[in-house]
Amino acid sequence: MTPRVVLLHATAAGSTTGIADHIGEVIERAGCTVHAERLDGGTSPDPAALCAADAVVAGSAVHDMAWLPPALGVLRTLATLAPAPPLWCFSVGGVQPHGPLTRVLAAQEIRRVERGFPPGLRPRDHRLFGGIVEFDGMPLWGRLFYRFVAGGRPGDHRDWSAIRAWAATVAAELRAGPPRAT
Ligand SMILES: Cc1cc2nc3c(=O)[nH]c(=O)nc-3n(C[C@H](O)[C@H](O)[C@H](O)COP(=O)(O)O)c2cc1C
Repeated sequence: MTPRVVLLHATAAGSTTGIADHIGEVIERAGCTVHAERLDGGTSPDPAALCAADAVVAGSAVHDMAWLPPALGVLRTLATLAPAPPLWCFSVGGVQPHGPLTRVLAAQEIRRVERGFPPGLRPRDHRLFGGIVEFDGMPLWGRLFYRFVAGGRPGDHRDWSAIRAWAATVAAELRAGPPRAT
């Protein structure tokens, strides 16, 4: 059986869309069927379609240590499904984890982001990827933190090989037939 994947993402400025597209291509090339949808708050995915999926891969840009509201909305829908399809999550923030400090910051950020998830909803995996960072409009303290603590620069921080590698592991787990959550 070909695994059916529903791939959902929410973006504010567009960089998460590129990442979601990339993940979808890798998963599709690995032999899964992918239904991709951008969550914009207008419409939300049909719960029956979510229930019928073999997996949901959901991602969002991170703003102020939280997912965007349309992405949190779909997690709330998923939390009501029984049995819920297995869930993989990706967050898109300002820093691509690349060394010990940024990996610690990424793990902390994922924990903070997951505090906003519905109680009991456990992704099988949750990865943070760097997106596109603009300094325009960012307060000075934010620029200084980003520059000197996280070591970041403005620009496109999307690490396509890290994104591809993660998507490949999701596809491999799906092809191996992950047990559904109960
Ligand atoms: C208002 C605002 C708040 C942000 N807050 C965070 C944050 O808390 N943590 C983080 O890692 N990145 C933060 N960022 C950076 C964005 O997550 C990053 O630019 C990402 O690529 C945005 O994705 P998008 O282009 O899909 O909207 C913030 C950006 C903006 C504009």
